[in-house]
Amino acid sequence: MCGIIGYIGKQKALPILLDGIKSLEYRGYDSAGVAVLDNKNGESRIYCVKSPGRISVLEEKISNQENDIGGFLGIAHTRWATHGVPNEANAHPHFDCGQKFFLVHNGIIENYKELKNSLIKNGHKFSSETDTEVITHILEDERKKNPKTPLEELTLKALKNISGTYGLAVISVEEPKKLVVVRNFSPLLVGIGDGEYIVASDASAVLKHTRQIVFLHDGEIAILTPEKHKIFNLRSESVTRKPEKIEWTEEIAKKGDFPHFTLKEIFEQPEAIENSLRGRLLPEEGLVKLGGLELVQDKLREAERIIIAACGSAYLAGRVGEYMFEEYAGIPTEVDFASELRYRKPIFRKNDVLLVVSQSGETADTLAALHEAKQKNILSIGIVNVVGSSIARETDAGVYQHIGPEIGVASTKAFTSDLSILALLSVFLGRQREMSLTMGRRIVEELEKIPHLVGQILKNKDQIFKVAKKYKSYNNFLYLGRKYNMPIAFEGALKLKEISYIHAEGYGAGEMKHGPIAMINKDFPSVVIAPSDSVYEKIISNIEEIKARRGPIIAIATEGNKEIKQIVEEVIYIPKTLEMLTPILSVIPLQLFAYYIGVLRGFDVDCPRNLAKSVTVE
Ligand code: M6R
Repeated sequence: MCGIIGYIGKQKALPILLDGIKSLEYRGYDSAGVAVLDNKNGESRIYCVKSPGRISVLEEKISNQENDIGGFLGIAHTRWATHGVPNEANAHPHFDCGQKFFLVHNGIIENYKELKNSLIKNGHKFSSETDTEVITHILEDERKKNPKTPLEELTLKALKNISGTYGLAVISVEEPKKLVVVRNFSPLLVGIGDGEYIVASDASAVLKHTRQIVFLHDGEIAILTPEKHKIFNLRSESVTRKPEKIEWTEEIAKKGDFPHFTLKEIFEQPEAIENSLRGRLLPEEGLVKLGGLELVQDKLREAERIIIAACGSAYLAGRVGEYMFEEYAGIPTEVDFASELRYRKPIFRKNDVLLVVSQSGETADTLAALHEAKQKNILSIGIVNVVGSSIARETDAGVYQHIGPEIGVASTKAFTSDLSILALLSVFLGRQREMSLTMGRRIVEELEKIPHLVGQILKNKDQIFKVAKKYKSYNNFLYLGRKYNMPIAFEGALKLKEISYIHAEGYGAGEMKHGPIAMINKDFPSVVIAPSDSVYEKIISNIEEIKARRGPIIAIATEGNKEIKQIVEEVIYIPKTLEMLTPILSVIPLQLFAYYIGVLRGFDVDCPRNLAKSVTVE
């Protein structure tokens, strides 16, 4: 949530900062701002421009400025509002009364109210309603007490009384060749260029300049000058960390010929799944190879229960994982919203394993659930996409998704990759237990075909577009599925809600009679996932029940099923596969359906209102 970027080096900072926050815009997009330190006639001055709305609005405002903003040091921010409405005053960067300290922040300052009250009593004037601004005024107070202290030490002094989470980048007119960044439970990395440094909330913003990246850890502060960088931990000990080379290229983070990232990412799924599976399938042996789990494989063999914790779509993938693990690996599995697990008193037993699933690897609640498990000393493993992210670093072991950056706020390729990796894990865990060679081979062979089958469904985009066009004006939808496809009903509804703002409810089809059926009438369509699987007859009965109440039905069915055509309004076919793998296929038409309705209704599908990609606040 919120994207921050900072630059120090030999190039003009402004274009780099603006370009950088554009690639972070998916993290928050209700307002934006930039501050650049320039030295004119021997005097340092910080030029700050902010504006509500998207970054394009900020750019326009900057181009209308009389001053040429030309310095080599600066910070910028794209905001997802937590405290205070999205307006110019609340946009970052924030500054103190004397306009000496400017900073951008991602996170939440929990004790800001009491700090603000006491600062106001001491004569400070606030220009925003944000929690962030208190830090600038505390810096100002600290400066009065410590006239000679360097910016980094002043920042640490200021943060002493602050509780909460922060990724912070600070500049000051007093030290025109220094950028100070601090991380505390909010992602931050330093890109190391040739005579320049770019700090950012995530790697996509720095890839154009460098692929050498140092990921800061919680409690670390980095001091950057054009020539060098230094990192210290909370105990003021110097930290030496080798930069990691990020393999993502700048192109992966671009839309290419697609009108939206969301569509690009939907169409990337065959390749993304293939990347998640690459080198991991051993069809002959009916095994999978997961290098990231090798060190903990003995402990996994001992596992008596798996607890999956995640949020949003990742949680729904986990719900599919529960069915897979129990049926194929024979391990009791529970799935919990990470936001619940962290606050209830979960009972962990010695041989429990926590599996956290997170594309970004930075979701605050998922990270907190992980911390809970670590405190209880149980083994934690992760399915994560972003290399070097907090969850990737803090889990005991894990499996990377290798799908490149997912920019569209609505998760698509990360979801199908999660499902594919959960299937890999069921074979991995199952073969450590009772799963036969034949079954292992069967799943592995079917998994190998999945990317191709996803590609086949995508070829049917025109039919899905037509269905979307026909149904775009309905205001409510019910999504139904059973067994492996029940979580997919929830995921389909989630996609429609977030991209097209249409009210949609996901439900287990068997539960329909216990309430939701009351809503069904001719104006209330249902999307029913009805592949030819072990619960097909049951779901056909549910379809009949809807029909009897004149509810229009869009069915997702297995190719070759002619019967269903006779009883529903629309059928979208998916190819046949193993029952446990059908969710990877059945979700594809639901993603496209939601995407097309969102576009037809004229919405910004990549950046839906009120949302942000990476939910780094709880
Ligand atoms: O980065 P994560 O996988 O931890 O993100 C979890 C959710 O925030 C995410 O899946 C969210 O629900 C998506 N917007 C759904 O499309």
